[in-house]
Amino acid sequence: MTLPPDAPSPTDVSIRGRRPRDLPTLRRWLADPEAAWRKWDAPYFHAASTTAAMQDYVELLGTRPPDPNERVIDVGGVCIGMVNRSEEAPAGGGWWDLGILVYDPAHWGRGVGTRALELWVTATFEETNAHVVTFTTWGGNERMIRAALRLGFREAGRVREARVVAGQRYDSVRLDMLCADWERAQRESSGL
Ligand SMILES: CC(C)(COP(=O)(O)OP(=O)(O)OC[C@H]1O[C@@H](n2cnc3c(N)ncnc32)[C@H](O)[C@@H]1OP(=O)(O)O)[C@@H](O)C(=O)NCCC(=O)NCCS
Repeated sequence: MTLPPDAPSPTDVSIRGRRPRDLPTLRRWLADPEAAWRKWDAPYFHAASTTAAMQDYVELLGTRPPDPNERVIDVGGVCIGMVNRSEEAPAGGGWWDLGILVYDPAHWGRGVGTRALELWVTATFEETNAHVVTFTTWGGNERMIRAALRLGFREAGRVREARVVAGQRYDSVRLDMLCADWERAQRESSGL
């Protein structure tokens, strides 16, 4: 990837638990039905149900302690997105599905998502019983697919033409990473 000269360095990107001062940013981006991310993150769901789900989520945010299965993405002390994960049933089966959202399109295509995903995959393998992790997206979301492939994820499957976005059909795409492969790649890249 050729990054713009002013792109943040990988060390500027971190993931951390939510702090009270993040709430206004989270509320602003998540509650906005016109936000650009809505066209990319599962845009095949009915917009009204996504808006309602986001409003419920935003209302609960300030009342609940941070969820260990969610983190905010921090660049230079500012919350610019979030990562989350959920365990596929049955509990204890070792399969977790991951999600990521960088809110502001001004931050897209600058390496932030790839770095945040790398941190989140590492954290998930360290903190959970995950044997395998996945991302689930749609064929039009090239940034998501390329970021996952760049980290060594493999395409696990496509359901052809399963999703409709703006009147056009796209494949549903799932990408996977085994814990053993991730740990081997991390060892190799650190020269151990
Ligand atoms: C998907 C997302 C997390 C990716 O993060 P990002 O910071 O934009 O991604 P990066 O800059 O790290 O990497 C993007 C990759 O896509 C490529 N890319 C950038 N802009 C692109 C574009 N307009 N079209 C196609 N590919 C593009 C980059 O070159 C890079 O690939 P490479 O490493 O092979 O060169 C982010 O764009 C986002 O949050 N989008 C909105 C919400 C969303 O789609 N979430 C995922 C739901 S499954």
